[in-house]
Amino acid sequence: MAGDSLTAPQQISTLESSDFLADVIAGFSSSPRTLPSKYFYDERGAGLFQKICELPEYYITRTEIDILDRNRTEIASHLGPNIGLIGLGTGAGTKTRILIESLKNPAVYIPVDISEKQLRESTALFQKIFPDMEVLPVCADYLQPVVLPTPNHKAARNIVYFPGSTIGNFEPDEAMEFLGRVANVCRKNGGLLIGVDLKKDQRVLEAAYNDRAGVTAQFNLNLLERVNRELGADFDLDQWRHRAIYNSSAGRVEMYLFSDIDQFVHFDEHKFHFRRGEKITTEYSYKYAPEEFATLAGKVGFEFVRMWTDDARLFGVFYFVTTT
Ligand code: AVJ
Repeated sequence: MAGDSLTAPQQISTLESSDFLADVIAGFSSSPRTLPSKYFYDERGAGLFQKICELPEYYITRTEIDILDRNRTEIASHLGPNIGLIGLGTGAGTKTRILIESLKNPAVYIPVDISEKQLRESTALFQKIFPDMEVLPVCADYLQPVVLPTPNHKAARNIVYFPGSTIGNFEPDEAMEFLGRVANVCRKNGGLLIGVDLKKDQRVLEAAYNDRAGVTAQFNLNLLERVNRELGADFDLDQWRHRAIYNSSAGRVEMYLFSDIDQFVHFDEHKFHFRRGEKITTEYSYKYAPEEFATLAGKVGFEFVRMWTDDARLFGVFYFVTTT
């Protein structure tokens, strides 16, 4: 996966631009209707997500940071010295910073993120605080195959870091396919450090995605605002409601936008009818039991080494190595 596209340190290479219009039309033409969750993270959405991370009900970010913090020495000794770290969806870089600070002489860091502003800011910060480490940012949708730049620094091994339980946005079969591609990036002697949200009480999960301050609602509704802003649509945001439920048989939180009334929405010569009570699915967030996730990754060439968790076993930070 390491390609020949070189990147100058301060420059951000955009290797893939997704087709928002085509994806929205496809999502509205399917039944039930959907919008891809990756479009949450425009500038406003990325800011709202940061606010979500600080909500009292949203235990995910806080717990993952705490797990990393308390086990940083042990995690770093598993990863070893002079590594090449590939960060997927690392956003503002709070967790990655904790990780890199604990590593011994990291050779290169390749953050891959869809949010350009955060990528630019975290790159500048990381270059400043880790001057000996090469930083090669890639602005891309890592859900699609991405060609990574070739570093100048030689790394002892490649470790992919995928925090935040974003793996939960995939359907399990897609997650497996994705992890299979990740295994190819790691190649021989590689590793994967991945944050995964664990199965737990339904009430805890639903509270985390239906916060009292309504930030998750704003985050969800921002998808429609983005369709308005970028595609010139006429969604009336007052006529839509956010709601998240935990589907325990599927093992996932499902996030929806419900139409309050019978209404039409127009953009790009299209006219879509939404019935009263009709829903748009905007996100699935899968939750795993520890053994479930270890088994899933094991099917695509990852050998489970260990999982770090919190006392309440809310969240897991898993470490795998490549077996081939
Ligand atoms: C960034 C995908 C892990 O699923 O918890 C937060 C996104 N959606 N609140 C999650 C999200 C609603 C988040 N991930």
